[in-house]
Amino acid sequence: MKTLLRVLDGEAVWPPPIWLMRQAGRYLPEYRALRQQAGDFITLCTTPALAAEITLQPVRRFGMDAAILFSDILMLPWALGYGLSFREGEGPVLPRLQPGDLSRLDPDRLLPAIAPIIETVRRVAAALDPALALIGFAGGPFTVACYMVEGGGSKDHPRIRALAYEDPAVLAALIDRLTEATVVYLAAQIEAGAEAVMLFDSWAGLLSPRQFQAHVALPARRIVAALKQRFPQTPVIGFPRLAGTLLGIYAESSGVDAVGMDTAVDPRVAARLVARTTALQGNLDPMALVAGGPVLEGETRSILEAMRGRPHIFNLGHGIVPATPPEHVAALVRLVRDA
Ligand code: CP3
Repeated sequence: MKTLLRVLDGEAVWPPPIWLMRQAGRYLPEYRALRQQAGDFITLCTTPALAAEITLQPVRRFGMDAAILFSDILMLPWALGYGLSFREGEGPVLPRLQPGDLSRLDPDRLLPAIAPIIETVRRVAAALDPALALIGFAGGPFTVACYMVEGGGSKDHPRIRALAYEDPAVLAALIDRLTEATVVYLAAQIEAGAEAVMLFDSWAGLLSPRQFQAHVALPARRIVAALKQRFPQTPVIGFPRLAGTLLGIYAESSGVDAVGMDTAVDPRVAARLVARTTALQGNLDPMALVAGGPVLEGETRSILEAMRGRPHIFNLGHGIVPATPPEHVAALVRLVRDA
């Protein structure tokens, strides 16, 4: 079995497999070249030849243990007919959710709209080195809801945090719709060749414990249960970023096969919060990867040591930043392989 899948099956493999969140992207000159060719980010995500090539760029250059589909978590609302654009230097821009918008999310549009993304999965699955695993992904419904309610990225997320207290039924209805769509979306990725799928819930840490249970852990559980029914062998990785001490509750109640640790998590504490049978993934600070040298070496070794004997997938604690020198990524892969 492929190393990454063995770990997701609960085996402690030494040295651990490695891949990096946002391993394809702007820090790579070959990405920037194709990005310029496509002009626009959504075109890049919906042109299978380009998206498949970008998915393969980092594994070809660095030899990670897995490729992750090149797309974006916001392609799901886009596929449901919700507006989306990516403005240079501004990040994603979406309409700000208005009363009545829920009925405009059209599940009938979903499958035809995601067809090019699913075709990308098929192409990567056919082209990928058979020793490497292909990871599909979606956003956690709460995080996708954050971008819809705020109308894009936000520092403080005032609107969704107010909504969670003032009109929890509206938030729950939105998350319900996104949860159902996410199951369809991830199932299509698995059918096309994704061997594991990951839920990126980047803003899970905004919520109180009760809200976290309702809007993060429960939707994850519904997604995991629906996928396991159809694809019992396909592992699911959950990443409830900044969940802190709620990591254990998330692991237990969602039923994911692996939990992603963000940069702020002490891996030794995560190892106590999460059952041994659940793999842990993470959690090098992306800024340590920018720094490189002895900093990178020290941080990497400390994570490896803390996780030794546990099923562990080496990764970052959040996505690679554009300032990352590609040589540092090569050095990190070597460090982990030679551990
Ligand atoms: O990991 C990978 O290589 C796969 C591709 C991937 C992208 N986004 C490509 C991307 C994945 C898994 C994501 C996830 C994603 N997207 C998340 C969850 C993880 C996280 O970082 O918290 C979130 C919150 C988004 C939403 C999003 N997409 C934002 C906020 C932005 C703008 C900020 C930025 O980094 O530019 C994007 C755009 C985006 N998604 C880019 C890439 C490579 C940059 C687009 C460009 O080329 O200009």
